[in-house]
Amino acid sequence: MPTPRSLTELRSASPQVVPSLLACDFGRVREEIAAVEAAGAQALHLDIMDGHFVPNLSFGVPVVQAVRRATCLVLDVHLMLSDPAPWIDVFRDAGADSITFHIEVVPEAGPLLEVIRGTGAAAGLALNPATPVSAVEPYLSGCDLVLAMSVMPGFGGQEFDPVALSKLRQLRQSAGPDLLLSVDGGINLTTIGCCADAGANMLVTGSALFSQDDYRRGIVELTQAAISHASPQVPPCSKSS
Ligand code: DX5
Ligand code: ZN
Repeated sequence: MPTPRSLTELRSASPQVVPSLLACDFGRVREEIAAVEAAGAQALHLDIMDGHFVPNLSFGVPVVQAVRRATCLVLDVHLMLSDPAPWIDVFRDAGADSITFHIEVVPEAGPLLEVIRGTGAAAGLALNPATPVSAVEPYLSGCDLVLAMSVMPGFGGQEFDPVALSKLRQLRQSAGPDLLLSVDGGINLTTIGCCADAGANMLVTGSALFSQDDYRRGIVELTQAAISHASPQVPPCSKSS
């Protein structure tokens, strides 16, 4: 298997459209992955749902393993699990390059972020639309990535909640330019620009990309919309470490 590209490479890049595989045609998953890769995607977002933290089930470890075998893109694993701790090593072994869990499920996020970094993966913390930024602020130094949900997690195809914008601004201001700041839910040509302007540099996109016939054109148009709105005051990320 070729060495996966690292999240560090994403960090030094312009705002990235990160396809969320949840919206792909799973009957043709290998072709879908190849198509978004050929279209210029640098990473894939993989949504793991437990039917408990969120009212839906998605896919699990064998699918992540299969995706890992199919591509060397960065695999950005978003755990929507009530109890993520037992699954960190499992998803890392399956091929995750970054592992993100939700602040709402742990009383204290620091130890689990350390566990994730200890595996060699990038450590991410997600927050729901109703969760204030203050809940994650104490842990920012332990995070490589923060994921601001712009919908209630559990389903693709929902409408963007603008509450995410003020959170992105606050997070970018608190964390500085080196944090990977991701936004997830309802990202499309209309919403992507204001998210980039607010400081997001990973724009997770499911239905707005996979509903298109031409993924290359889709990624180019979304990326252009993000770049043209990205505020010069909040560079996508400057560090190259
Ligand atoms: C929702 C997931 C998202 C979802 C986004 O719980 O975390 O990653 O796939 O899908 P869209 O882009 O369709 O809102
Ligand atoms: Zn997600």
